[in-house]
Amino acid sequence: MDDLRIKYIAAIAETADEAALEELRVQAVGKKGEISLKMRELGKMTPEERQVAGPALNALKNEVNSAIAARKVALADAALDERLRTEWLDVTLPGRPRRQGTIHPVSQVTEEVTAIFADMGFSVAEGPQIETDWYNFDALNIPGHHPARAEMDTFYTHRKEGDNRPPHVLRTHTSPVQIRSMEAKGAPIRIICPGRVYRADYDQTHTPMFHQVEGLAIGKDISMANLKWVLEEFFSAFFGGPVKTRFRASHFPFTEPSAEVDIQCSWEGGTVKVGEGDDWLEVLGSGMVHPHVLKSAGVDPAEWQGFAFGIGIDRLAMLKYGIPDLRAFFDSDLRWLRHYGFSALQMPTVHAGVNG
Ligand code: DAH
Repeated sequence: MDDLRIKYIAAIAETADEAALEELRVQAVGKKGEISLKMRELGKMTPEERQVAGPALNALKNEVNSAIAARKVALADAALDERLRTEWLDVTLPGRPRRQGTIHPVSQVTEEVTAIFADMGFSVAEGPQIETDWYNFDALNIPGHHPARAEMDTFYTHRKEGDNRPPHVLRTHTSPVQIRSMEAKGAPIRIICPGRVYRADYDQTHTPMFHQVEGLAIGKDISMANLKWVLEEFFSAFFGGPVKTRFRASHFPFTEPSAEVDIQCSWEGGTVKVGEGDDWLEVLGSGMVHPHVLKSAGVDPAEWQGFAFGIGIDRLAMLKYGIPDLRAFFDSDLRWLRHYGFSALQMPTVHAGVNG
């Protein structure tokens, strides 16, 4: 028994982890453990022998069990110490600086425009950037032979040989969203549709992808007067002060009558300033929605009428924030983005004015 004691007490003290300890426990006092087997032999002993061996074996078993329990606690303590040593964290260290992104002027201006029109009861509608030629042209009263199709430098999608369906187009303007929205919601309706549009064109003031916002208001008695008020209200809120507008008769296939709208500006010192001076800057196309367009969208022109307009968002951003070259908008140059970008906390509001 002394041999057993020496053997197990020493072995327990040397175990390196809980698994080894458990193995040792099974080996010593498990069902078929060495000490347990010895206890079974008690039955074969004489009562005298048993009286000596019994208590001694019990004492040995208890001693081994408590050595195991003690070792277990010691191992757990050591493991915890080790974790505390290696997983140590200096919470007093200064934070690592993180690069902060900025809001792109196009996103910022889109939000500003949306906030101003939302205040006048317009909700936001969206449509696909890949359109059928019907939505992009025909439904807007631009038939196949119309010169406007050629003028728009349209990107057409590729069709497999033998597929004679007319190709889809990358929408050349946001006007098709007028049709989709009236189809879906009918009249009355009051929406703006901001989004990307595409034309094969590239120079200082043109990029193959740019942004427009379409406006549409249809009701029983909506007139050009409402259009003028809405636009003046918009420009004054957007540029942060009263802005005069000038309506010039024009022509678009989807409006009748049509008007191009200029805003008041000055060119003093070589830079353009909106809302002062007596020069004019053309900023948008507009008019009363053509009866053919209403009809295409399932709205009865005998009952409903209203106005539409389309503005370039990038153009508005350039004017408001003094950004000279449109192409730089889409170069992803980090220096440009940091210079012209906005903090995520500069949330647009209707009353924020020029300084955001
Ligand atoms: N879709 C025209 C363009 O991209 C802009 C436009 C003009 C939209 C007149 C309108 C409008 O809704 O009434 O050039």
